[in-house]
Order: sequence, then structure tokens, then C-alpha cells
Amino acid sequence: MSARWGIIGCGLIAPKFFQGLETTGEGTVVAVASKSILRAKLLQKKLGVPKAYGSYAKMLDREKLDAVYIATSHNYHFENAKLCLEHGLPVLVEKAFTRNAAEAEELIALARTQNLFCMEAMWTRFNPATTKLRELIAEGAIGEIKRLKAEFCVKMPPSIKTMPWNRMYSPRLAGGALLDIGVYTIAYAGMVFGCVPTRIGGSAKMAWTGVDKTSEYHLDFGQGLRADLAASFVEERPRFAVITGTHGIIRVPYFSRTDKLTIIRASRAPEIIKCGPSGFEYEIREVHRCLREGLTESPSMPLDETLGIMRTMDTLRSQWGMKYPGEAG
Ligand SMILES: NC(=O)c1ccc[n+]([C@@H]2O[C@H](COP(=O)([O-])OP(=O)(O)OC[C@H]3O[C@@H](n4cnc5c(N)ncnc54)[C@H](OP(=O)(O)O)[C@@H]3O)[C@@H](O)[C@H]2O)c1
Repeated sequence: MSARWGIIGCGLIAPKFFQGLETTGEGTVVAVASKSILRAKLLQKKLGVPKAYGSYAKMLDREKLDAVYIATSHNYHFENAKLCLEHGLPVLVEKAFTRNAAEAEELIALARTQNLFCMEAMWTRFNPATTKLRELIAEGAIGEIKRLKAEFCVKMPPSIKTMPWNRMYSPRLAGGALLDIGVYTIAYAGMVFGCVPTRIGGSAKMAWTGVDKTSEYHLDFGQGLRADLAASFVEERPRFAVITGTHGIIRVPYFSRTDKLTIIRASRAPEIIKCGPSGFEYEIREVHRCLREGLTESPSMPLDETLGIMRTMDTLRSQWGMKYPGEAG
């Protein structure tokens, strides 16, 4: 099968998806669509894609697609993915899946009713080092997992980037460190412990625009299992994850895109495990596998897990009094 993809949203991440798809050798981007025909044409030229549209619906109506990649800002994910599902098309939806759990529930219900594939594009989940980590946890390499510490902190200099029209700082575009990068740490915790947190606490420092510029999350998974997580646009810190088990520790440097892990166990020298490089190609291959095998969800990133992540982020935002424009409640 050579999958025919369409892309909705012609911004920064779209070329990375294009390159990832090229690397798989399993498909092509046949069309890109934007709210702005100019943006779509620029991307078309840059990537050498056959068609560009200034309307999402026109692309979906006119092109014969196997799947659509939703690469818009968070606030649009719900309506963009809904439009695709209503056109009978499978979707890979960038993180954060939606603005909130209510939108996620509606989208998931629609995908299930339509019997169509739908997945949050949690690309880090499919990288070789993450796959290796899951194997090590499953085989008990460090015993029972007890703790996770993970941070994703990138410095966004105070400039045009901290203005409300920038996606990351914009309440209208559902920005903030939590939905943009904190989501990776929360998804990582769910993967490491294999369940949803029973108690959720955290704190946030707000940007003047009204979204969190720095935030911390303390998630309790019951029976002494705990994750301490952080995300920030304000300071650059090592993007590490440390998983502590009853018999050892696994250190993951730069956990979102590492190619190695270190296992530290009592009375043994630290063991460095080299893995393949990270990239979008692994999640794309997973979408293709699911489509080939008739799966409507990926067992590695199921929709119930995505919903759990959205609920955790809703709880945190409600504790901080952080609402996006037009959100109910
Ligand atoms: N950048 C990264 O490193 C990265 C990495 C992984 C995942 N992601 C995820 O990918 C998605 C897109 O991120 P991105 O960095 O590509 O975003 P972006 O370049 O800021 O914008 C992507 C698209 O969102 C829409 N958009 C952005 N700002 C808008 C505004 N002010 N008004 C109206 N529409 C606006 C536009 O869609 P149209 O062109 O259709 O009008 C734009 O092309 C997000 O969910 C993000 O979390 C990003």
C-alpha cells in the first residue's frame, strides 16, 4: 500500500511530517490545505507536493486520500479532525489532541461510530528508545516501577514569541506550556505506569497572556507510584526522564528524542543501551500498519489513553483557573 496523505495546517511542523513520511517509503503527501491559500502554496512549493488548497473542505472533497494529518494549532484540532471523520477519512491528530476532554470525548465517539482510525500524534511514543524502554519495563529490568521524574523545558525568549498571536502563548489558540510540551511528560507517565493518575496536583506561573509559561504536575497513581513532572517556556533545562524501580534506575536523556538509555543497577556498572535515532517515521509506520490491518486505534497509543491525558490536563487547568476563550464551565 502506498498511502495518500493530506495535510491540514501549513505551519512549522508540516514539513517534519512530510520528511517522516518520505523516510517510511510507504506513502506520499498528495495535497496540503490551509486557511490561507498563500500559506498552502508556499508549503506546496517548498515540499514539491502536487496540490495546494485554501480550504480544508475542498481538499477533502476533491482528493482521494487514505489519511489526513492535522497540523494546526490546538484550538482547531477538534473541528479539523471532525471534518475529516465526517468525510470518512482516518486522522492522525497532533498533540495536544484537543483543547479539553469534552472535545476529545466527542471526537473519539465520532471516530468509533464511523469505525475510522484516529490517533493522537504522540510521536515520542514510537521512537526506538521509547520502544526499548517499554520492553525493559515489561521484562522487569529494574523491578517494579515506583517513580518517574521528567521535564520538558525550552527557553522562548521574551520577544515576539511571547505575544498573544504566537501559538505557544495564545489563549485563543489553546497555548501554554501544559498543552504544548507538558503533555509529553504526562503521556510518558501514563506509559511508564500503565494507568491514569488517581490524584492530580500541580502549580503554574502564568504569562501575561493568561496561559501557563511554566508548570509542574505531581501525579499519584496509587500504591506509592508517583510522577513529578515539569514543563516551561521560560528556562532551558535538560529534557531528561528518570524512572526508578525497586531494583534500579533508567535514565533517559532528552527523553522526547533520545537514541540511548542508561540502566543503573546495584553492584553492576551502568549500562548504556544505544537505540536508533528518533523521528516521525515510526508513528507514521504505525498508522499505516493499523490501516493495513483494519485497526481503528493503535494499541500503543489508544484513544482511552489520550482521553485520560486530556482529563488530567483539564484537572490541572481547573486548579489554576486557566480557561481558554469559549470553554464551558
Ligand atoms: N513545532 C514543533 O516542534 C511541534 C512538534 C511536535 C508537534 N507539534 C504540534 O503540531 C501542531 C502545529 O504546530 P506548529 O508548530 O506547526 O504550529 P504553527 O506553525 O504555529 O501553526 C500551524 C497552523 O495552525 C494554524 N495557526 C497557527 N497560528 C494561527 C493563528 N494565529 N490564527 C489562525 N490559525 C493559526 C495555521 O493553520 P492553517 O495554515 O491551516 O491556516 C498554521 O499553519 C500543534 O498541535 C503542535 O503542538 C509541533
